[in-house]
Amino acid sequence: MPSSAPGRQTSLLDTRALPIDEISALFNRADEFKTRFAERGDFRDGVTQPKVVCCLFFEPSTRTRMSFQTAAYRLGHQVLTMELSSSSLVKGETYTDTVLNIAAMFPDLLIVRYANSPELDKLLPELDMPVINAGSGVDHHPTQALLDAYTIRNEFGVISGKRILIVGDIAHSRVARSNFDVLGRLGAEIAIAGPQEFLPSEKEFSQVKRFESLDEALDWPDVFMGLRVQKERHGGAQVVSGSAEEYHRDFGLTSRRLKKLKPHTIIMHPGPINYGVEFSNPQEILEDRRNRILQQVSNGVLIRAVLLDSFLAAASEND
Ligand code: CP
Repeated sequence: MPSSAPGRQTSLLDTRALPIDEISALFNRADEFKTRFAERGDFRDGVTQPKVVCCLFFEPSTRTRMSFQTAAYRLGHQVLTMELSSSSLVKGETYTDTVLNIAAMFPDLLIVRYANSPELDKLLPELDMPVINAGSGVDHHPTQALLDAYTIRNEFGVISGKRILIVGDIAHSRVARSNFDVLGRLGAEIAIAGPQEFLPSEKEFSQVKRFESLDEALDWPDVFMGLRVQKERHGGAQVVSGSAEEYHRDFGLTSRRLKKLKPHTIIMHPGPINYGVEFSNPQEILEDRRNRILQQVSNGVLIRAVLLDSFLAAASEND
């Protein structure tokens, strides 16, 4: 876990900055937080000096934003969330000016989500306060990858050697990229399947097994990770020819394919899910005993609470 020792990490913008031993320590602390919550109903350990956490989400979010907020409140902190529709972004203010103005209000920590923005990629590491990346462009979604890895570790006790099949719009997925880094460094075997147009280049994702068809992959994985088709990142183009029905037929987790997955294979998805596209229907998926999708969401609160607690403590010690 990012330690609270002065000089150690107080921000998380890219999983590649997080050493393996810190990821393992983070998972152990998430276990402690889970126990603490079961015993006391929150994550506080003694009296909290309340801090101000600012959420800046320049893209929509349900899970990430709400779980950061929940985690912060249960640690005893205050959360301010800027609403896009009533902000000065609608008057043409840039991302950069928005971040600079909020950062000038002395928040103790910023949580930021944004679409592709080289300006913010450059600015955020330069800010004089802890910053957590809540998803940026097609590149990074660090907390999603950490909660995914934590879910897999809790399921199997170990990640090393586990087979993770990631299916769908991988080329446009920040979840996939952060997961390749975290799960890859933790020793998982990773494979991908999807339409050619949705597969990343061999150069970018070397050492990843590729399945030509989803049907031939079904008895391979310990984890089936579905991804949403991310139309908002396709620049208005029809990247894959064919309808949603055809996509579902070729790369969806249909009723027939659900039956072919092995009994121990868990089903994961970062959300939001497009039923009838990447997954069959809510009833079938939610009732399947291999489904861990809501478990991922709960684990996200634990992981984010540990990160907030650690970074805020480290920043206080560094003051
Ligand atoms: N997994 C995820 O990032 O979901 P939200 O977009 O709802 O935050």
